[in-house]
Amino acid sequence: MTALRKTIAVLPGDGIGLEVTHAAIQILKDCAAAFGHHFEFHEFPFGGNAIDNFGAPLPPETLAGCRASDAILLGAIGGPKWESLPFGTRPEAGLLGIRKELGLYINLRPIRLRPALRAISPLRPERLGDCDFEIVRELAGDIYFGEHKITKEKASDLAEYSVFEIERVARYSFERAAARNGHLTSVDKANVLASSTLWRDTVTALGREYPGVTLDHLYVDNAAMQILLRPAQFDVILTGNMFGDILSDEAAALAGSIGLIPSLSRGRTDQPALYEPIHGSAPTLAGKDVACPLGAILSATLMLRESFGLNAESQWIEDAIDRILEKGYRTADIAEPGGRVVGGSEFTAKIRSELQAAPAQHAQRSSGA
Ligand code: IPM
Ligand code: MG
Repeated sequence: MTALRKTIAVLPGDGIGLEVTHAAIQILKDCAAAFGHHFEFHEFPFGGNAIDNFGAPLPPETLAGCRASDAILLGAIGGPKWESLPFGTRPEAGLLGIRKELGLYINLRPIRLRPALRAISPLRPERLGDCDFEIVRELAGDIYFGEHKITKEKASDLAEYSVFEIERVARYSFERAAARNGHLTSVDKANVLASSTLWRDTVTALGREYPGVTLDHLYVDNAAMQILLRPAQFDVILTGNMFGDILSDEAAALAGSIGLIPSLSRGRTDQPALYEPIHGSAPTLAGKDVACPLGAILSATLMLRESFGLNAESQWIEDAIDRILEKGYRTADIAEPGGRVVGGSEFTAKIRSELQAAPAQHAQRSSGA
């Protein structure tokens, strides 16, 4: 077993971002102790708190700290306190800023219904089937980053994609699909939008390089419907920034709660990737210890796998999570009749004691590193 030394930049952000990143750090520390790794955590201001204390949602020191790290763990940003600020100065501008500055053009959102949580999906079991797919959302272009204009009478947002931008995220998606079940569904609105026409043509052309992957295309309206009708048909979904934002919230609901879904954002492989739960800062829940820490903890396990190659470590944590869920422990958002609803910190403590109970030998033996 090779012990790894890694520096992790932590951007807790606002609201429940603080609680859930704290939970994820505790689990990562347990992992380091059990497997003999050394993880160093450096916290940086980001989002609303950074506006309050440093005058900007993404202070230069935060960006520099992220660049100097091996991976970034982000909580959530925003809240009513900053909603009336002009867009470019709001917490959300910090999130878009960090994506742009770090060149994070790939956003991976795994949608997997954990076996113990089948009952809480809003979809009936017979429709649900084996719900396990990944959404790859392009993260650095589209209507998010085109020119935004607003006057008193009129407003517009420009949706733009270049072949270069489409190809780089599509390539990642084909590779992802090839490593899974070999099925890629590209989602666009090519019956109406020029940017989607280029999207479809580019993905189709690139597909010739991946004969082992079956490629199909869906219009986004149909895709939204198919996700609810028959989620098991999907393996990897590739889509643009705007559609990916919407479809990933929809898909998260199938897996039981938006509180459960982690994400990976990355660009070039020699740059640090960023991991964050896809939920928001939930200001009304903040500080009440009710938020589900799983989105953040699963972001940490995604980090272990995708950035550090620590598959056994990641599995060790995910197995403990599944055992805790099987024992009936639930946070409020995933509560079930008969289940035991606990606060976020108690839920994390349960996972930690489950980790302690997993034999350390098993941990050592199963480390692939
Ligand atoms: C997300 C969020 C962000 C987005 C917001 C907070 C800017 O909804 O990460 O999905 O739209 O990308
Ligand atoms: Mg979103």
